[in-house]
Amino acid sequence: METIRKSLPQDANKAAKLMFDAMDWLGDLLQLNKVKGPQLVQTLYLKSNTRFSSEHTHVVDIDGEVAGILTTAAGSKLDGLNLRAAVKGFSFITGKMLKNVAKHAGSLLKTKEALDDEYYITTLSVDSKFRGKGIGSKLMDLAEKLARENGYRKCSLTVDANNEKARRLYNQLGYVEQSQFKLMHYTFVRMVKSL
Ligand SMILES: CC(C)(COP(=O)(O)OP(=O)(O)OC[C@H]1O[C@@H](n2cnc3c(N)ncnc32)[C@H](O)[C@@H]1OP(=O)(O)O)[C@@H](O)C(=O)NCCC(=O)NCCS
Repeated sequence: METIRKSLPQDANKAAKLMFDAMDWLGDLLQLNKVKGPQLVQTLYLKSNTRFSSEHTHVVDIDGEVAGILTTAAGSKLDGLNLRAAVKGFSFITGKMLKNVAKHAGSLLKTKEALDDEYYITTLSVDSKFRGKGIGSKLMDLAEKLARENGYRKCSLTVDANNEKARRLYNQLGYVEQSQFKLMHYTFVRMVKSL
């Protein structure tokens, strides 16, 4: 049976893996591999008030297995959520990582992922074995429902310019490119939909 529900602490392991899968840039920025990266995300998922936290996450559950995740946040709250993630994840940070973060600090500080009047889709990720079955689209519908319920008239997201699959999905759902920004070797596209 397929259900969409709020995430629970016991989803932490799979939810963190899916979140990290959708954030290649985070692994590159912090120089975390596919073991350490999800561990950091899982730590933050289990703490409150970060962009990765369980309270901001919904999951698609298929027969007890987490098949996909969606995290969302008010655009106006995003900077605070990012800052708290950095503070709460600090014990993970090594000198080498700090050096890389410092190298990209200018771009990081300039980056504006979302505007205050937008409901922001922080992460969308579907387990590879469940893709192409409409799960991503259902989670996007949920994001828009949450946006409306919270009084927003716009949903936004950022996507790696090279992520053609995700960009095609967002285009089909009515998201329109607004701007681009660079971080490390990535170009990100900011897309917005009026609800
Ligand atoms: C991008 C992503 C979330 C899409 O999730 P998904 O569950 O595969 O999305 P959907 O199934 O709704 O749509 C994907 C495709 O399947 C098609 N589809 C949807 N339901 C379908 C169904 N029942 N039968 C056949 N095809 C279907 C869609 O039309 C879409 O087609 P397209 O690729 O030709 O545009 C997923 O690929 C993913 O997690 N990627 C890795 C992480 C990532 O990149 N996240 C986005 C970061 S911004």
